[in-house]
Amino acid sequence: MSRTVALPDGQVVPALGQGTWHMGERGSAAKAEAAALRLGIDLGVTLIDTAEMYGNGGAEEVVAEAIAGQRDKIFLVSKVYPHNASRDGVPAACERSLQRLKTDRLDLYLLHWRGSHPLAETVGAFEKLREAGKIRAWGVSNFDVNDMQELARLKAGAACATNQVIYHPDSRGIEYDLLPWCAEHRIPVMAYSPIGQAGRLLRSAALREVAKRHDATPAQIAIAWGLRHPHVISIPKAVDPAHVRENAATGEIVLTEEDLAAIDAEHPPPRRKQSLEMR
Ligand SMILES: NC(=O)c1ccc[n+]([C@@H]2O[C@H](COP(=O)([O-])OP(=O)(O)OC[C@H]3O[C@@H](n4cnc5c(N)ncnc54)[C@H](OP(=O)(O)O)[C@@H]3O)[C@@H](O)[C@H]2O)c1
Repeated sequence: MSRTVALPDGQVVPALGQGTWHMGERGSAAKAEAAALRLGIDLGVTLIDTAEMYGNGGAEEVVAEAIAGQRDKIFLVSKVYPHNASRDGVPAACERSLQRLKTDRLDLYLLHWRGSHPLAETVGAFEKLREAGKIRAWGVSNFDVNDMQELARLKAGAACATNQVIYHPDSRGIEYDLLPWCAEHRIPVMAYSPIGQAGRLLRSAALREVAKRHDATPAQIAIAWGLRHPHVISIPKAVDPAHVRENAATGEIVLTEEDLAAIDAEHPPPRRKQSLEMR
């Protein structure tokens, strides 16, 4: 059975999702991108992460095409730009996202990163959208521990459903403090760039060695590595259908102590506080 993660409000969501950054940037690629998302959905990967920023709204339009006729089985996540995160800006941005996504609600709406609008104003606007049924839950992205502490002090701060941050074997600073803080507060972490944007990480000797043992690929091992935490949701992005199929199959992989030790040796865990990286 596919792994799931419980949000603080008790809602249970899939631990593996699909990202959409760089989708919707070129009209000529949109059909293939929507087809990739649909393939993922057919394979059971029903959580989709997008943002008003991606493709300047184009990614949300690609998602609309992919989820048409099957909205009810999707857990749909989008994000508001920090410069839109004011009392009036949030509902207006949300409405534009809903229109592009051709739906009447988001399952989760995130503040993409911290900007200059007061957090209390953004949270107040999120809560109003929740009461109006436009969003089911809200959360944040690229928040470090001090930001999460500030959020937790706000009246409605405890309703925060997730913090979406970078997490892969070459970027594991959150293990020092943010991941434990979120676990303690029962806030799942949504791991972005889980395969390191298919860069140097996929050439890791350790990932290759572990992949061989599991008859898998280094990308699948990187995703399974993030998903070893019970509070982590992983959202790899893939357009190539072979990648979509590989990623959908990662739920079957359970890493052993030996695997984790091999990965630790080449990609050591943090020994001290590291400021949160952002892509
Ligand atoms: N909140 C934030 O600030 C933030 C920042 C970054 C990302 N995100 C979210 O997280 C999602 C994932 O992160 P990401 O897109 O930065 O990076 P990623 O998922 O780590 O990597 C995406 C790249 O990996 C390739 N790929 C996918 N599956 C593969 C596989 N099995 N084997 C080999 N290569 C594979 C993709 O190629 P193809 O597309 O050609 O298949 C693409 O080039 C984003 O799409 C976005 O939704 C959020």
